[in-house]
Amino acid sequence: MTLETNWNQIYEDAKGWIREAGEEIIASFTTSFAIDTKSNPNDLVTDIDKETEKFFIERIKKIYPSHRIMGEEGFGDQVEDLSGVIWFLDPIDGTMNFVHQQTNFAISIGIYEDGVGKAAFIYDVTKDELYHCSKGTGLYLNNEKLKPLEPVKLSESLLAINATWVTENHRIDPRTFSPLLKKIRGTRSYGSAAIEMAYVAAGRLDGYVSLRLAPWDFAAGKLLIEEAGGVCTTVDNKPINLLDKNTIFVGNETFHSQVQKDYIQPALDQNYYLKTPSTK
Ligand code: IPD
Ligand code: CA
Ligand code: CA
Ligand code: CA
Repeated sequence: MTLETNWNQIYEDAKGWIREAGEEIIASFTTSFAIDTKSNPNDLVTDIDKETEKFFIERIKKIYPSHRIMGEEGFGDQVEDLSGVIWFLDPIDGTMNFVHQQTNFAISIGIYEDGVGKAAFIYDVTKDELYHCSKGTGLYLNNEKLKPLEPVKLSESLLAINATWVTENHRIDPRTFSPLLKKIRGTRSYGSAAIEMAYVAAGRLDGYVSLRLAPWDFAAGKLLIEEAGGVCTTVDNKPINLLDKNTIFVGNETFHSQVQKDYIQPALDQNYYLKTPSTK
């Protein structure tokens, strides 16, 4: 085994770097930082997103020069295939929360080898909650091992969803999910895909749907949820593509299968529009 694939060492390094980066982010609250916009006025990015991404890239490249990094802010590699070791990195997931609330944001890192998930970390910085797993060893919240997910009744379940799903949009017909919202116990919207996926893995939520997420948003959460016994697909029940943007539907196994059978499949049968993964 070379250093480049010493998974225990990679795991420990990633955990250490995440906590270090978290401290830097907290320290930034006392200074002022620049806020910019990207694709539209609500698509925010700050100096701290960029500095945090650079912090990880410097460390990864120094210790593991053969590993590639797909990071949201673009300082990593142009990743077009899944060969070798790839770190999917979202330095701050929930930037809008970071800017407006200084809470409810996370560092998200999923590490894959040849397309297979090896280790995942989602760190809710201000709550000091690090959700982590390496494949096959169970899911942890800080030092505590969490129980695998248990079956849940639809009528007693919580779904994370945001308002765009029930308003006009060009990806998912709103009629698909509105009947489900009447059936379940409640909905939540935290504004961080990583936190929402970590909560599904931990059983705090039973499901989460999103219109369009990028690999750095879901790579870590997918592995955490699968490790906990949950299921991750696109909304139209296809495998998630790690190299592209996807619609995302994740959940507890019973929740996922019931929603697929009773709400999504009937919507497909009625020809409601449900777009397949797309970069558009
Ligand atoms: C966003 C958050 C948000 C989700 C968006 C993502 P960012 O990530 O996860 O909850 O709805 O689709 O882009 O830009 O804050 O890293
Ligand atoms: Ca962003
Ligand atoms: Ca994100
Ligand atoms: Ca981000």
